[in-house]
Amino acid sequence: MKPELDAFWMPFTASRQFKKAPRLLAKSSGMHYWDDKGRQILDGVAGLWCVNAGHARPKIVKAIQEQAAELDFAPPFNMAHPKAFELADKLAKIAPPGMTKVFFTNSGSESVETALKMAIAYHRARGEGTRTRLIGRERGYHGVNFGGISVGGMVGNRKMFGSLLTGVDHIRHTHDLGRNAFTVGQPEHGAELADDLERLVALHDASTIAAVIVEPIAGSTGVLIPPKGYLQRLREICDKHGILLIFDEVITGFGRTGSPFAATTFGVTPDLMTLAKGITNGCVPMGAVLAKQGIHDVFMTGPEHLVEFPHGYTYSSHPLACAAGLATLETYADDGLLTRASELQGYFGEAVHALKGLPNVIDIRNFGLVGAVELTPRAGEPGKRAFDIFLDCWDKGVMLRVTGDTVAISPPLIIERAQIDQIVDTLRGAIQRAA
Ligand SMILES: Cc1ncc(COP(=O)(O)O)c(C=O)c1O
Repeated sequence: MKPELDAFWMPFTASRQFKKAPRLLAKSSGMHYWDDKGRQILDGVAGLWCVNAGHARPKIVKAIQEQAAELDFAPPFNMAHPKAFELADKLAKIAPPGMTKVFFTNSGSESVETALKMAIAYHRARGEGTRTRLIGRERGYHGVNFGGISVGGMVGNRKMFGSLLTGVDHIRHTHDLGRNAFTVGQPEHGAELADDLERLVALHDASTIAAVIVEPIAGSTGVLIPPKGYLQRLREICDKHGILLIFDEVITGFGRTGSPFAATTFGVTPDLMTLAKGITNGCVPMGAVLAKQGIHDVFMTGPEHLVEFPHGYTYSSHPLACAAGLATLETYADDGLLTRASELQGYFGEAVHALKGLPNVIDIRNFGLVGAVELTPRAGEPGKRAFDIFLDCWDKGVMLRVTGDTVAISPPLIIERAQIDQIVDTLRGAIQRAA
């Protein structure tokens, strides 16, 4: 290992493997990265599901440069700067109906913590302080902070970290290879899995439950598309029992599913929605929670000189992030990117599903511009086959992402058909070599 690689303790990385053969990114533009040796790499995962408009977009670059020179930082507590209001207003305008309030954070994980705290505090503020229980879903990913891993359902992210939050339970996940393998788009079977929430209501009583949090499409756990009718049913059960519904749209937001948010695509409006990643095209860390007007208004009581919601971060609504966010929304609008996935999803879906029949491929899933290929694990080495495929694709100039034995594809929304073909052809070769 090179000594200069020693100090950096890397996040979510097989770091001993990495430090033996580092993959260092040096430059980016459009659909591509270049590594430190000048090799061009096609970005098949929008960086990390965030660079939706492609890399180094001129408007965004300029906005960040100018903002840094003009106003570098503004304290967000009892102070503000104009671009924070402007960005909140623009986000509310593209949000699902009624989601009119925007609370800024710095990441998806912080957005999740914020939304969970808002849900509990909301019930307390309106006089139902017994509603403190939080419900997540098996195989859910909601970032890495204690609230997020508690409601999250990925065992690898939970097991090392003690007893987590108390008062949390989980509904069943929707992954059902037996009935839904190789479905194009939304699976036919599984709407009834939303009824699992009724089981938890029967167990805990609705009067103890504050909120349910789900990803409309579960990304980090291997791209699980919601069965037809599932999200609608979840909404109905939440309404019936006065439980808030939180959609974690950290990866589904900003055009991934063919409209600005998955809530719009699937026609189900949550009460709270968590955002990050594509909010600034990945250029400056930022997240947000969108809330329904009524949730916000419950807090607006008490003396006017006192803080209504005691929560926030030093870098909430950071000027650089707001400038990047505004330029990002403009770039999305200029290029029609918030709906482009709906035009490309037919071509993309067909291309990905063409991998059916290759050795060890046990499922292929797609929706909008997100796809996944699930593979049989190597005996006694879970995750190894997909990791080998990831490394092989990297060697051949395509960057993908793996989780367990699933390979995920989520390219920038500017992708062209020939580049979809390049991703799929490269993946095909790697799957064959990993047989
Ligand atoms: C659904 C979801 N929620 C939350 C997060 C956490 O976001 P961050 O890594 O910005 O904290 C992610 C990250 O991938 C995510 O996919």
